[in-house]
Amino acid sequence: MSDRTLFLSLACTMLLVCGACSNSPGRPRAGSAITPPNQIDKFDVLYSQNCAGCHGPGGKGGAAISLADPLFLAIADDAAIRRTAANGVPGTPMPAFAQSAGGLLTDKQIDALVTGVRSWASPVTLRDATLPSYVPRAAGNPERGATVYRTSCSSCHGVEGRGGKASSIVDGSYLALVSDQDLRMSVILGRPALGAPDWRSDIPGRPLSEQEISDVVAWLAAQRPANPGQPYPASTMNRVTGGVQ
Ligand code: HEC
Ligand code: HEC
Repeated sequence: MSDRTLFLSLACTMLLVCGACSNSPGRPRAGSAITPPNQIDKFDVLYSQNCAGCHGPGGKGGAAISLADPLFLAIADDAAIRRTAANGVPGTPMPAFAQSAGGLLTDKQIDALVTGVRSWASPVTLRDATLPSYVPRAAGNPERGATVYRTSCSSCHGVEGRGGKASSIVDGSYLALVSDQDLRMSVILGRPALGAPDWRSDIPGRPLSEQEISDVVAWLAAQRPANPGQPYPASTMNRVTGGVQ
C-alpha cells in the first residue's frame, strides 16, 4: 500500500467513525427535538407559556384574575372559560387565543386549557349565601349603585371610590382597561390574597344581593372616562391645539 492510499483509507475510517458519533457537532441530541407549537397538548406547558404571565403561576392571580379561585370556578362554567380563552375580551389586555379569532392555539389546545383550569376547582363552603350568577340577572342602576357603594365599599375605598385604606377604584386608567364583567367578578370574588372581601363580607351580617352587585358595578362603569388616557377635558385640548387633535 502506498503512503497515499494508507492516508486516504485512514481518513475515510476517521470520517466514518466521527459521522457515527452521536455527539458530533450539529447532530441533535436524543429527545431534543422541538415540539411544533401547535402540537403542544400538555396543560402545564400551554398554561405557563400563554397565561401565567397575567393570571399568575398555577392560576393564583397576578395582574389579572385568579383562575384557580374556587369561587370563580364555582361561578364560571366551561363554556364561559372557553369563550374568553378563545376570543379574548376586546378592549382589555385579555388576548384572543383561538386560531379562528386570530390567535395561535388550536381548538384542541383551547380544550386542554379549559379542562386544566377546571381541574383546579375545589369545594366551596357557601355558609348561608347563594352563589351569584356569572352573567348579571338584572340590569344595574348607577344611582342605586352609588348608595350601595357608600354603605358597602367606602369604608375601604374612600369617598367616591378615590382611595382610602384600599386603592382608588375610579381611576380612569384602571376603569378603561377592565370590562364590566371583570368589575362584576372583582365585586363578587374580592381579592382574598390582598384582603379584599368577597360579596359575602362587604357589609356585616349578610351578603350583597344580585341587584346590589349589578347596581354597584353600574355605578363603577359610569365613572369610566369617555377618553381614557386624556388628562385634559376635550374643550381645553381644542384651545391648545386650535381644534386639531
Ligand atoms: C396579557 C395578559 C393576559 C394573558 C396573557 C391572558 N389573560 Fe386572561 N385575562 C386577562 C385580563 C386583563 C382579563 C380580564 C378582562 C376583562 O376586563 O374582562 C382576563 C380574563 C380572563 C378570563 C375571564 C375571567 C372572567 O371574569 O370570566 C379567562 C377565563 C381567562 N382570562 C383565561 C385566560 C387563559 C386560559 C389564558 C391563556 C391561554 C389567558 N387568560 C391569558 C389578561 C390576560
Ligand atoms: C375591607 C375593605 C374592603 C371593602 C369593604 C371593599 N374592598 Fe374592594 N378592595 C379592597 C382591597 C384591599 C383591594 C385590593 C388592593 C387594593 O386595591 O388596595 C380591593 C380591590 C378592589 C377592586 C380592584 C380589583 C383589582 O383587580 O384590582 C375593586 C373593583 C373593588 N375592590 C371594588 C369594591 C367594591 C365595589 C366594594 C363594595 C361592594 C369593595 N371593593 C369593598 C378592600 C375592600
